[in-house]
Parts: sequence; C-alpha cells; structure tokens
Amino acid sequence: MLETGFNQITKPEMAPPSLTTEMVRQKSYNISLLKAGEIGDFLALQAKVWNALPVYKKHHIKLRTTEDLQDHIAAGMPVIAIRENDGKLVAQGILGSLSQKNVIRNIQGYPVREDDSLTTVVQSLGVDPDRQGHGLSHIFLATAKYLAQFSGHKHLLAKVADDNLGSRASFMKNDFYAASSGKDPILKHQVTYLRCDI
Ligand SMILES: CC(C)(COP(=O)(O)OP(=O)(O)OC[C@H]1O[C@@H](n2cnc3c(N)ncnc32)[C@H](O)[C@@H]1OP(=O)(O)O)[C@@H](O)C(=O)NCCC(=O)NCCS
Repeated sequence: MLETGFNQITKPEMAPPSLTTEMVRQKSYNISLLKAGEIGDFLALQAKVWNALPVYKKHHIKLRTTEDLQDHIAAGMPVIAIRENDGKLVAQGILGSLSQKNVIRNIQGYPVREDDSLTTVVQSLGVDPDRQGHGLSHIFLATAKYLAQFSGHKHLLAKVADDNLGSRASFMKNDFYAASSGKDPILKHQVTYLRCDI
C-alpha cells in the first residue's frame, strides 16, 4: 500500500506506457514530470496561453511564478508536461496534494472535506492555443488521474470559472462532477469546484 503523497513519483517514465505513446487523432505525445531545469518551458507556454486569452477571459488561469513551481517540484508534487515528439511543450498543469498544505497554493475556497489528505488538486491546466481542440486536455486529465491513483489519492478537485465552458466540458467528460460552487476568493467571479472520485 503506497503512502499518500507524490514523493515516490519522481521519474518522467512513471507515466503509464499507454499514455506515453497514446495516439490521439494520429499523433503521439511524450508525457513527463517537469524538472526544475525546465521551468522556463512552463512559463513560456503559460505566457502563450494567457496572451491568447481575450481580456474578458484572463481570469481562466492563475499565473504561476518560478518560485511557485520550484517549491512545487521540490515538494515532490507533479508538474505534468505533455510534449510533441520534437520536445515542444504543448500542454501542462500541476497536481497538488492537500496533505501538503504548506506548499500547495491558491486553495482558499476549495470544498475541503475530512478526507482531504487523500485529495489532489488540479491547477494551472493550459494547452498551447495552436493545439487546442485536439484532445490534449483529455490526455492531461487521464495522466492526472493515473498519478493521483498511483500515489494513493482518492479524489481530484479543480476550480473552474463558470464561463470557461471548454474547461468545464473537458473535466466533466473525464468523470468530474460539480461538488460545490461559489465566488473566486480573489477575483470574485463565479466558479464551480469539480470533484472526481477514483
Ligand atoms: C480549456 C483547455 C485546457 C481545453 O484543452 P483542449 O486540449 O483544447 O481541449 P480538448 O481538445 O481536450 O477538448 C476537451 C473537450 O471539451 C469540449 N469542449 C471544448 N470547448 C467546448 C465548449 N466551448 N463548449 C462545450 N464543449 C467544449 C470538446 O468538445 C472536447 O470534448 P470531445 O473530445 O468529446 O469532443 C484549453 O482550451 C486551454 O488551455 N484554455 C485556456 C486556459 C484554461 O482555460 N485552462 C483551464 C483552467 S481550469
């Protein structure tokens, strides 16, 4: 029985073989856990995703800093990186275990339950605007569920802005359901907290 936590997931090859070679619409991708030396790649894709959002959608993602990501990786929590075969990073996001409350950030307002130590939070999901609509969020969420289950977690949680229809649709198609709703504690837009039981 694995202890709850991500400390045992440190190797890129930990993603299941079926996902590392997954064929999605005739294309294959490499899935790995981002290393500290690759944080620049994450920040570059994050900037591209954010810049492509119209002003009225900028609240759809919370921007991560270098320090956020360094702390996250140092704590052994996964930053999922999905790359094309030439190494181009095309989708990314992070998983944060609620059992590591000293490291995980931006979880004010989440519907945390008594078994929250078995819950991991999906945050900062982003797909390259040039690659959106090709199923990459499905690969990301399948990987997130695999890693969560592998590390002994029982639930995943995500906060999605109510006007982010694409993101919400993707989570719902990947077995998430609306657990509660409210206002974003910082930006005050309407959000729904989506949960997935694994
Ligand atoms: C939201 C986002 C992650 C989705 O990633 P993606 O790779 O483009 O999505 P996918 O191609 O995997 O599509 C996911 C599903 O959602 C559906 N979908 C997408 N947009 C939709 C919309 N506006 N309404 C309804 N369904 C929609 C798709 O049809 C697809 O389902 P299908 O495969 O059964 O057809 C991506 O658009 C993104 O990075 N957006 C900007 C940042 C963001 O909002 N991040 C999420 C923060 S919670």
